Amino acid sequence: MKRLVAVFWTVLMAVFVISVSAAPVENDFLLQTKNSTMSFHKSDNTWLMVHYGAKIEKAGDVNALAWSGWVGGNFFGHRKPATYSVYGSDNDRSTMNKFGGLAVIHADGVTSTELKAGDAKTVDDKAGVTHLVLELKDSVYPFFVTQHFRAVEASDVIETWVEIRHEESAPVKLMRMDSLALVFPLIAKEFHLLSLTGQWASENQLTEAPVALGQTVSMTSRSGVRSAFGNNPSFMLSVGDRATEITGRVIGGALAWSGSWSISVQHDYVNALAINAGSDTGNGPYTLDVGKTLTSPKMALTWSDSGKGQISRNLHRWARDQQLRDGHMLRPVLLNSWEGAYFDFNEKTLTDMMDGVKELGGEMFVVDDGWFARGKYARDDDKRGLGDWILNEKKLPKGLGWLANEAKERGLKFGIWVEPEMANTTSELVDAHPDWVLREKTRPLRQGRGGTQVVLDMTNPVLRDNIYGQMDAMITSIPGLAYIKWDANAEISNAGSTYLGADRQPNLWFDYTAGLYDLLGRLRIKYPDIIMKACSSGGAHMDYGFLRYSDEFWTSDNTDARQRVFIQWGAGHFYPSCAMAAHVTAVPNHQTHRSTPLKFRFDVAMSGRLGFELHPKNMAAEEITFAKKAVADYKRLRPVIQQGDLYRLVSPWEQSYASLMYVSEDKGKAVVFLYGLNRPVMSDYPAPLMLKGLDAGKRYRVTELNREKRDHSRVNGKTLGGAALMGMGLPVKLEGDYDSAVFELAAE
Ligand code: GLA
Repeated sequence: MKRLVAVFWTVLMAVFVISVSAAPVENDFLLQTKNSTMSFHKSDNTWLMVHYGAKIEKAGDVNALAWSGWVGGNFFGHRKPATYSVYGSDNDRSTMNKFGGLAVIHADGVTSTELKAGDAKTVDDKAGVTHLVLELKDSVYPFFVTQHFRAVEASDVIETWVEIRHEESAPVKLMRMDSLALVFPLIAKEFHLLSLTGQWASENQLTEAPVALGQTVSMTSRSGVRSAFGNNPSFMLSVGDRATEITGRVIGGALAWSGSWSISVQHDYVNALAINAGSDTGNGPYTLDVGKTLTSPKMALTWSDSGKGQISRNLHRWARDQQLRDGHMLRPVLLNSWEGAYFDFNEKTLTDMMDGVKELGGEMFVVDDGWFARGKYARDDDKRGLGDWILNEKKLPKGLGWLANEAKERGLKFGIWVEPEMANTTSELVDAHPDWVLREKTRPLRQGRGGTQVVLDMTNPVLRDNIYGQMDAMITSIPGLAYIKWDANAEISNAGSTYLGADRQPNLWFDYTAGLYDLLGRLRIKYPDIIMKACSSGGAHMDYGFLRYSDEFWTSDNTDARQRVFIQWGAGHFYPSCAMAAHVTAVPNHQTHRSTPLKFRFDVAMSGRLGFELHPKNMAAEEITFAKKAVADYKRLRPVIQQGDLYRLVSPWEQSYASLMYVSEDKGKAVVFLYGLNRPVMSDYPAPLMLKGLDAGKRYRVTELNREKRDHSRVNGKTLGGAALMGMGLPVKLEGDYDSAVFELAAE
């Protein structure tokens, strides 16, 4: 009988748990991850976000401690911390919110919106994810917002986005349509904003400054294509004292969007903080038709009370588990033909490169730009051919299938370069369909790279079908195609679409990217196993929107190992090493003309997804011997480097050397990288590297890799305790500029 009762209770509890997970949410809700809480409270029919940060178990505690100034509304202009801050809602009984992340001109011309709480519920999602859905409706208009919060337990990331739709009598205009528009009442008196900025060949430069009282700091991209060309759509915000790698409260964010975007942080005159992020409407409102749903990009938020390093690790884990096409696959070592041949190749050049990468121990060969288009448009330089995704038969008479087979016979996988979003005006495609090019009908056409490059109108489904068809035909003509490098070397310079009507032209800025994702999604469904690299003039597709469809990004066209230390350092703040393509190239470097030792170039590239971009036939015998050993070690250690937790030890922005390390999840293995840059003073020796993330109780054998003539640590070969390595540091030595070292740590 006792057993029966127990079974009954177990069944009842199971039913209860299931029904709770699908149950409506009442007035308070704590959205939990492993170490953080986002807390919701309904007041006056408005959903408020009353806490985001440290993990708290009881709604009562949150509500008691949340600063309640917003309730009384004593301060002029003070805003309610609504879950979605909207232009036109009330701040209190007497003032109206003018900063909201959603601003709508309704069909009748009224410009304010007041969202009231409707249904709130959690819905089924993947294991380890709590997905909260808040239905919001305007108090007067049939205008609806569905707000999503998807909390990923393991990585401490909360994804949020909105769906906007209406049943008004005519289209509405969305002046702003952010994914995230949160208001935090006074939570600190000081904020510092870190982000990445740069330009071609200088991506991911770290920049950080206070957001002072009364200031709004905003970052934006209006490229429309090269989302990460100037600024990257991501940030870290220190709450209170400026955080370090290991201390301080930090909110991290990354917007998953490859089009134009804006992120702003406002520290207002009463010390409230507002964070807004979404697709940018700065060049005109989005016209939303009756019955259509606009789904905003996803914003990923994460929280840490132990500094910036943890924010990076959270985003990396989330990216691998939730966002990348395949975040757990071990990435192959490949050779890309670009810097080794540019446009100047024939079949023998490529098969020689295959022989070379095979000898080095690589696993894939990728033919870059120059293999396509025919006749007068044959792609022998960057002035013609984009848009015609057919074989350049003069260059490669035996065909792509033959080339792929040559790779296969050498035991290599085969990949190819494309740039489907763009065309040259000198192409069969544009000759036949000039209306598929983005252009403004009354203005001369601006043409980019090569003097002829233009952007295709991704809003047009007929154009998308054509490109899909061309890609599909190309892929099926290459048996076993394993990898596509998807490039995009232009921005929207002619902001006009012949597909969108005269009254819908500003929709281009959003619909271009929505169209691009439609195309990428269709290809992904048909070819789920093809690895995809996101490239855009180097690192300008380093965004989590594109990375939904791709496995990795080209980090920069700048392959100078010294400058790569900085570029990769920045990228690693938000994007995981498995996605960071890093290639060993020839010297003098083609971008900076600097010569660095081969070992330095390897040591830098081995901290990401290792590859090559050179012609191996130009390597000396001893270089090949070094490279073979390095590739073999990399392949052995890539589970740690590509999947491990990143710890940044010494910043190149602060010292004349840099150091970082990866630790496997079980803490059984680690790889430490040390890069000497340019020492200003002879006696500027590196301090012991204070290792992080090891198991204090384990003992690790230290082995130097890529070792040439001498040890870079006097404990090379020794076995030492994790506590000692973290507490006293790994003693290291560097000699001369661009000296570097890699250490493997293996627990015994
Ligand atoms: C861009 C890419 C390069 C290369 C060239 C080819 O610049 O970033 O890696 O593919 O295009 O034209």
